[in-house]
Amino acid sequence: MRDPNTLSNYDAWRTKHTTANLTVDFQQKQLRGSVILELESRTDKASNEIILDSSYLNVSSIKVNSASSDWEVKDRQGANGSPVHISVPEGAAKGDIVKVQVNLATTEKCTALQWLTPAQTSNKKAPFMFSQCQAIHARSLFPCQDTPDVKSTYDFNITSPHVVVASGVPLPEATETVGEEKVYKFQQKVPIPSYLFALASGDIVSAPIGKRSSVATGPNELKASQWELEGDMDKFLDAAEKIVFPYQWGEYNVLVLPPSFPYGGMENPIFTFATPTIISGDKQNIDVIAHELAHSWSGNLVTSCSWEHFWLNEGWTMYLERRIQTAIHGSDAHFDFSAIRGWKALEESIEEFGKDHEFTKLCISHKGIDPDDAFSTVPYEKGFHFIYYLDRLVGRQNFDKFIPHYFGKWANKSLDSFEFRDTFLEFFGAPEYASLEDKISEIDWDGRFYNTGLPPKPEFDTSLVDVCYELAKKWKQNDFKPSPSDIEGWTGNQILVLLNELSDFEQPLNVEQSQLLGKTYGLADSKNAELKSAYYHIAMKAKDTSSYQGVADLLGEVGRMKFVRPLYRGLNKVDRELAVKTFEKYRDFYHPICRQLVEKDLGVSDAKSA
Ligand code: BES
Ligand code: ZN
Repeated sequence: MRDPNTLSNYDAWRTKHTTANLTVDFQQKQLRGSVILELESRTDKASNEIILDSSYLNVSSIKVNSASSDWEVKDRQGANGSPVHISVPEGAAKGDIVKVQVNLATTEKCTALQWLTPAQTSNKKAPFMFSQCQAIHARSLFPCQDTPDVKSTYDFNITSPHVVVASGVPLPEATETVGEEKVYKFQQKVPIPSYLFALASGDIVSAPIGKRSSVATGPNELKASQWELEGDMDKFLDAAEKIVFPYQWGEYNVLVLPPSFPYGGMENPIFTFATPTIISGDKQNIDVIAHELAHSWSGNLVTSCSWEHFWLNEGWTMYLERRIQTAIHGSDAHFDFSAIRGWKALEESIEEFGKDHEFTKLCISHKGIDPDDAFSTVPYEKGFHFIYYLDRLVGRQNFDKFIPHYFGKWANKSLDSFEFRDTFLEFFGAPEYASLEDKISEIDWDGRFYNTGLPPKPEFDTSLVDVCYELAKKWKQNDFKPSPSDIEGWTGNQILVLLNELSDFEQPLNVEQSQLLGKTYGLADSKNAELKSAYYHIAMKAKDTSSYQGVADLLGEVGRMKFVRPLYRGLNKVDRELAVKTFEKYRDFYHPICRQLVEKDLGVSDAKSA
């Protein structure tokens, strides 16, 4: 089997449909109910056993085709969790569908869910819960074939005292009231992998942001969220549809979560989940939405078959995201600007791992590896650079024809890197592309897939970064007198390029320079978390002790791992005591995935027992 991060026997069985009948219990902080999997037998010889993934679940009973049956939750195998073995006494012939009903409850150790008390929400009125299943956390919600190689349609029947959002199309007319609670129903008719299963519940209201789109969030956040997104949502959709083909999912909505959401965005179908840090009041961070929207094709429709080929999801998505930005700004300079930033991030990431590290390969072996540990910029930017290289190799006009072909051919399926290669070679092997033959035969597929370290660097159009580099150079001179006008009219991302340059100086800025930087450009009190955290990295490198408390405070305000993990690592280097104390103070604020990774980064185990 091609996915090492599942213990399920998905070669013998395929989940076709899943019905999730779950109650959100805010008192006990658990999801409880039953999940019915309809599995198709794939083998000729009768298969007598179904193995599903599970992790820290409380399974109370399992029925096979409505009859009770033998089952056992076996010992845990690291991050892959505890396989559930279910016997199918009568066996099943190829093509037969078997219905497995599992009654279950999630436990305190569930890694997919975060539960917030009313006091942890902005209006303090109601509790809040949300899920994050990518990469392998769906198995901590219910037993399933938790691999991106299997796709299922879904029915969601979710009972909660508060509004529910899920990764399906809402059926508001079907909502039933049961006492104080309601059953919220959703349908996902496009088959999706388990990692796209998503739920959230709380005091959620929504407002339109486009023809097919609304934003959902807390009442206090609604107006600002609507303002941030409504100008661009339809433009993003129109641009993406022109590049690939029409959007297949019906609605595209955004759920803006509380600040502990551990990612920038998560491409859950129908409802992208997003960090509130993108609602920065300046529309400077909505490229995250272009990115998550692009996943509607790359990832959600056409899916990498295991986390070893994750670059097919994220590399393609970075490419589409940049194409969407280019279409909207009407200039290639924006494509290159973003690609240059990506290249920089790739260089930093590879330097941090070491250039020979397995995790710097495009295709990363995941045997015995927790995908959360292998996660980095590499699949995003090395993946992007591979796609962009192919684009330049065959020429934009030709590549533009390949894009809809690829997404059409693999829609509703999952694939590996070799199938991607074969699709590319087959398409450009057609007689009309005969003139490309030599170029195409030059592609070093194996090298591209398995070489560690940086790929060949392309030429970039540097027109939008040059001003940033020039200003950075001025900061090298000791007598430089900065002024707010230095960055007048700059985008947030241009300021980020500047800060990145400054933080890379061999001779770091000194305390005075760093403080001057923060004051002159208004960075320390910026509402933009990207800018604030980039500035704090410079301040920490400058050993500006007066900034450390600000770092600690920021760590209590955002739970997005992109900021949290590097800030803890930075703070740990200059003031370990404060880093550990801050983590202990805010550990309950973080999502369990974030909590675990920061624990590893800081080298602290459960601080409660310490
Ligand atoms: N699918 C990812 C988030 C993810 C990846 C969650 C792996 C869990 C495991 C999402 O599309 C993403 O890439 N988010 C980025 C957005 C950015 C690249 C614009 C993020 O969270 O920063
Ligand atoms: Zn992504």
